[in-house]
Amino acid sequence: MAIKSKQQGKKTAATAAKLAKAVKPGKPAVVKVAILGFGTVGSSVAAVLTASKFPGIELTHIFNRGFERKRRSAAGKRVPASVVWTDDVGVILASDVDVVIELMGGLNPVEGWLRKALAAGKSVVTANKQLIAYRGAGLARLAEQHGVQLVYGAAVAGGVPVIPGMLQGLSGDTVTRLSGIVNGTCNYILSRMETGADYATVLADAQQLGYAEADPSADVDGFDARAKLCILSRIALHAELDPDAVATQSIAAIEAIDFTYAKELGCTIRQISRAQLSNVKGEGTVVHARVAPMLVPLASPIAWSHGTQNMVVVSGRFGGDVVFSGHGAGGEPTAVAVVSDLLAVAQGCRTVQLPVRKRAVTGEFMAPHYLRFVVDDKPGIVSAISGALSKVGANIDSILQRPGYPKHRLPFVVTTEPCLTSTIEHAVASIAKMDCMLERPLCLQMLVMEDKEDAG
Ligand SMILES: NC(=O)c1ccc[n+]([C@@H]2O[C@H](COP(=O)([O-])OP(=O)(O)OC[C@H]3O[C@@H](n4cnc5c(N)ncnc54)[C@H](OP(=O)(O)O)[C@@H]3O)[C@@H](O)[C@H]2O)c1
Repeated sequence: MAIKSKQQGKKTAATAAKLAKAVKPGKPAVVKVAILGFGTVGSSVAAVLTASKFPGIELTHIFNRGFERKRRSAAGKRVPASVVWTDDVGVILASDVDVVIELMGGLNPVEGWLRKALAAGKSVVTANKQLIAYRGAGLARLAEQHGVQLVYGAAVAGGVPVIPGMLQGLSGDTVTRLSGIVNGTCNYILSRMETGADYATVLADAQQLGYAEADPSADVDGFDARAKLCILSRIALHAELDPDAVATQSIAAIEAIDFTYAKELGCTIRQISRAQLSNVKGEGTVVHARVAPMLVPLASPIAWSHGTQNMVVVSGRFGGDVVFSGHGAGGEPTAVAVVSDLLAVAQGCRTVQLPVRKRAVTGEFMAPHYLRFVVDDKPGIVSAISGALSKVGANIDSILQRPGYPKHRLPFVVTTEPCLTSTIEHAVASIAKMDCMLERPLCLQMLVMEDKEDAG
């Protein structure tokens, strides 16, 4: 076993040596590449590799179930004739391919196949956020054991180099906080609702444009974003989080009226993913993490991202805030990130590796909150709400009520001074039981970018 591992430990250097030879005229050595999954991103990666002809890189295999229909597609016809198409993953695993690019998505059967590829001495490039969020630590260990690389720069924010930027450019800082928009579908929906459209219409448009799946839950309920938040936490905060432990809140309860009230408060609404380190007495270092629609000040750069744009703000102890922004998805932008990873692997560029520790997660943040109620109006409602809030120690900051709504279905808003998430949730649960409440109250955290508050 030790001998095998040692030999394979030379694999990354051997791949780089092959490329070094290949860029010298007359030297035929090439780094051979296979693509698993010829869908939106896989076909774009093939197109980029075919069009750009990077010296020393050769696409040799494409794997996809029922590959004939892929080969006959317009994208398939542009693939060089020398490429072997297969629907048998064993062909790839047994081949002399140096780098496997995985663009199928999901955990199974992908994880097992990539484990075999890594064990066979092949480096892996992937854009698969679920795989990296849930299985990344184990796969990274396996890659290290076999002296090959596992890189996933495209797994968060597609074409925006957040991961390589953090690894190469920010590893020297002590990052304490991350916040931003990492799901383009939600950003498209919310930034269109900002201009007056309603949720159902915009969601239907997003589905028609291919931004949202027929079942939009992974996006709108925050599961896609939390996988990405966990990957970013590992890289920036060196904290391994259980994705299932990260609190999520759906954007589906947001209504047009919330944008009206948000504007009155100098804010808009975005799906925000945030993670923050803090020391909790008796518990040590914990990560406060949450994916939820939040009120964002209009003056914050996060509010300026529209459509499918992504934006991540990384706050470091020494370097302050750094902002990454751009198109987070789409075949070609994501393919650029994948091919950049491939080139780095082929040239033997090792990514920065710092120790990562498992960390407990809490959804608690100390923040002001926005509460929107829809009531059958009658005297005493405001004082009942105020009583429920003061019972848990939450102070009202403002009350907003726009004219023009019927008294029997009146939407109005209360904002609170900073208080803990659990505190406000406790109060909202008791307010929701009041007879006058026609809907479950909406409770949104208000993001304060320049806050000096300590979470927890
Ligand atoms: N699209 C983006 O903008 C974007 C951005 C960042 C990251 N990503 C990530 O990139 C990966 C690929 O995304 P995508 O949008 O390209 O997905 P996609 O269009 O659905 O492509 C996936 C491809 O893999 C094939 N495939 C899936 N499971 C397979 C299996 N078990 N055996 C054989 N072939 C299989 C599919 O074949 P069929 O056609 O038969 O289903 C399809 O051709 C995902 O991990 C995604 O999260 C995508």
